[in-house]
Amino acid sequence: MKRPYVILGVSASIDGRISLGPNRTIMDMDERDSVLGTKEEWKTFTNSLEDIHNPDVWMEGSNMLVNDRHELKDLEPYQGDEDTLYDDFLPEEVVSKNELKGWLAVVDGKGRLRSGFKGEEDKPIIHLVSHNVKPEYLAFLRDNKIPYFIAGDDRVDLKKVLEKMADKLNVEKILTSSGGKLSGALLKDGLLDEINIRFNPVVIGGFETPSLFTSPDLEEDEWPTKLKHVMTKIEPNGKFLVRYKVQY
Ligand SMILES: NC(=O)c1ccc[n+]([C@@H]2O[C@H](COP(=O)([O-])OP(=O)(O)OC[C@H]3O[C@@H](n4cnc5c(N)ncnc54)[C@H](OP(=O)(O)O)[C@@H]3O)[C@@H](O)[C@H]2O)c1
Repeated sequence: MKRPYVILGVSASIDGRISLGPNRTIMDMDERDSVLGTKEEWKTFTNSLEDIHNPDVWMEGSNMLVNDRHELKDLEPYQGDEDTLYDDFLPEEVVSKNELKGWLAVVDGKGRLRSGFKGEEDKPIIHLVSHNVKPEYLAFLRDNKIPYFIAGDDRVDLKKVLEKMADKLNVEKILTSSGGKLSGALLKDGLLDEINIRFNPVVIGGFETPSLFTSPDLEEDEWPTKLKHVMTKIEPNGKFLVRYKVQY
């Protein structure tokens, strides 16, 4: 089945770290300003990728928005028929908005993102969840008219949700600034098509610090994923941008 073309755009240290430590998120702008590029640099970087690809979806992993330091908001227990909740939810008033220009998609396999954030007027949020989430979480999304696709038992079945996005929302291109676990999973599943990394002249180190691609170690009969170089842009401040296509 058809799936969208997926483009990764991230900033990293020279040692491939994408954050300052476990449970420290680059959403804290002080951190991004100091080591992984300023807000302005990030904007220029993502704008350049948007100009090249014109994506329909901007996708994140849930760890970008919530981490283990955040307390999970309690939700009202759900009293109705649970089965009806475990189907995709695409409320008509969101899907058929005139101003719709695309979607913000968040992979949230465990249903941790409970802020009720609806995205932007022209780019509503859609949650990508697994069957592992609690019914009260799905009921909460439905009550708030927040769309979701559901696929996978314990974790989100990434291939299936991407196919659903192509099939049900006509999505052709996804730009993702996924963290290392999601990028690693996309790559391992053969779902990542292009890698763009903006390297910064710092070394962060750390045994647990999130890095560009995190996935199970290669088996004896597995080999690295090969990349085809597209371009390198060197900047005067010791930063450089590399662009590769993934060759499966
Ligand atoms: N420098 C940058 O450009 C940049 C960009 C993005 C993020 N970051 C930083 O990176 C950190 C987050 O990275 P991270 O590696 O911890 O998390 P992450 O990449 O955000 O991954 C977490 C999400 O991916 C899902 N996931 C992971 N493996 C999966 C698999 N095999 N199948 C399906 N879904 C899977 C998780 O699902 P479950 O909920 O089911 O576990 C979770 O929703 C944060 O500190 C963030 O600030 C930096």
